[in-house]
Amino acid sequence: MSSQPHTVMRVADLVPEGAAGVTLILDGALDCQPGQFIMAWLPGIEERPFSVMDDAPLSLSVAHVGPFTHALCLLQPGDRLWLRGPYGHGFALHGAHPLLIAGGSGAAGLTLLAKRARPRGDQVSVVLGARTADLLMLRWRYEELGCVVAIATDDGSCGLCGTALDACNALDGPQHDVLYACGPEPMLRAVARYARDRALPCWVSLERVMKCGIGVCGSCHCGERLVCADGPVFASSVLL
Ligand SMILES: Cc1cc2nc3c(=O)[nH]c(=O)nc-3n(C[C@H](O)[C@H](O)[C@H](O)COP(=O)(O)OP(=O)(O)OC[C@H]3O[C@@H](n4cnc5c(N)ncnc54)[C@H](O)[C@@H]3O)c2cc1C
Ligand code: FES
Repeated sequence: MSSQPHTVMRVADLVPEGAAGVTLILDGALDCQPGQFIMAWLPGIEERPFSVMDDAPLSLSVAHVGPFTHALCLLQPGDRLWLRGPYGHGFALHGAHPLLIAGGSGAAGLTLLAKRARPRGDQVSVVLGARTADLLMLRWRYEELGCVVAIATDDGSCGLCGTALDACNALDGPQHDVLYACGPEPMLRAVARYARDRALPCWVSLERVMKCGIGVCGSCHCGERLVCADGPVFASSVLL
């Protein structure tokens, strides 16, 4: 779709993500902001958007939901992946007590933010939500980064039985002064209302079907906006 050149990287290592998918650790690095995304391409299969889970080494966390993500989950060390980007506008760091709220594979969209916030001395709390314990992604990474992690699952198989928002309400600890969220849109809308009711600044990362990733094809529109070029990170007021 794009004439921009692709970078080729090889899979250096794999981290299984339970029944959800896999984290691919690649053999290169990428200079990018938290919340930006890359387009990953497997020739003859597809090209699709993925959050940058880590920048050095570049790492992508993939939940298998269809043909392309299934193909990514079958990659082995040494296999090649074609990439272009980073694209979009990411998250800026605000406040000293951020609360990160992620649902499902949305966990991949907030790890780099946690990585950037921790060296500033910020106390970073994270709520990870999933349908079941084996669909939770990247708990290991947030713990490695020294974040305080709370879990919510729909069936109570891990952490609190309920939604990510229920887990936010149950959190002890510091007063959070800013919220960041990535995940399914119903969750993001609930987070936006939660932030509005508490007068907290809040940023959300939206997902839309993307083809070009660079503001050309129009497939990712959200009202007047193009999620790939104007986002994917927006102030949560866009969802109210
Ligand atoms: C900015 C952005 C960042 C993303 N980051 C991640 C990530 O870090 N990890 C992850 O697992 N997934 C991420 N996704 C979603 C990922 O791109 C889709 O799951 C993937 O494209 C599905 O392809 P498929 O062929 O496996 O499934 P399909 O059968 O094509 O679709 C399965 C589901 O994915 C949705 N989808 C299909 N194509 C796209 C597309 N081009 N863009 C967005 N959604 C699509 C469909 O609506 C459907 O609900 C991100 C999407 C966006 C827009
Ligand atoms: S994906 Fe083509 S305009 Fe956004």
